[in-house]
Amino acid sequence: MDIRSLGYVGIDVADVDGWREYAELLGTMVLTEGDGLRIKIDEWPFRVVVQPSERGEGLAFTGWELPDAAALETATDELVAAGFTTEAASGDLCAERRVRGMTRTTDPGGFQLELFHGPVHDHELFMSPTGVSGFRTGPQGMGHIVLGTPDLAGSVRYYTDVLGFRVSDYWKPADDDVVFMRCNQRHHSLALVAASEPALYHFMLEALTLDDVGYALDRHYDTDTPISMGLGKHTNDQMVSFYSHSPSGFEVEFGCGGLLVDDATWTVTEITKPSFWGHR
Ligand SMILES: [Fe+2]
Repeated sequence: MDIRSLGYVGIDVADVDGWREYAELLGTMVLTEGDGLRIKIDEWPFRVVVQPSERGEGLAFTGWELPDAAALETATDELVAAGFTTEAASGDLCAERRVRGMTRTTDPGGFQLELFHGPVHDHELFMSPTGVSGFRTGPQGMGHIVLGTPDLAGSVRYYTDVLGFRVSDYWKPADDDVVFMRCNQRHHSLALVAASEPALYHFMLEALTLDDVGYALDRHYDTDTPISMGLGKHTNDQMVSFYSHSPSGFEVEFGCGGLLVDDATWTVTEITKPSFWGHR
């Protein structure tokens, strides 16, 4: 399956106004759509869909980009052959997500996936309200997500054997592995952790410069926005980042300087510390 990148994520939130303020603090553009928000970080119309929800907060869906309609058709056939249920998205839903075609499916942990092709660009310039110089996206997608899944082994098999992700490395803080997986040069677009319930732990946005990260950190201090882990540098993807508490409880990692993996030379390792320094 030819998944190229994490195109977008959708999150269910209780406090839409809190998210508007929070996303602007991070330096993203925030657009109102219906009773929710669209968060824009690059030339795409949005990368995060914020939707109001009364049934709990967390991940609503992940959108994974394929290169064209033929690749999406092949992907759908492969999911069906592997015994997974698929549903072609309606024209209305495709219009809402600004894509030309989409297949919806569910992973073994219960997360909703939207495989899509043909993002429809609006060519609106990204202008950060707080001066972030830009976010690293393009072929590396919107960033990464870290999810807790009740079926770690089944989910890892699903993302690697069926969806074609490659394992970048493992971390084994306790009995179970944390599994970091990539679908492009970004070290991981997805990491999975064993959990009793499906959970969104964080999503990561990668700014272009260290100054972007430093100024974002200062904006947190200046507005008493809670930081869950201070500045640090990860061992595996070498991201220099900090973690911020979103209004929904889960975290947002704000970083820069992520490693680019070369598939020709990469070998899988197990890390024993998540950070060289910091992230306290
Ligand atoms: Fe992360």
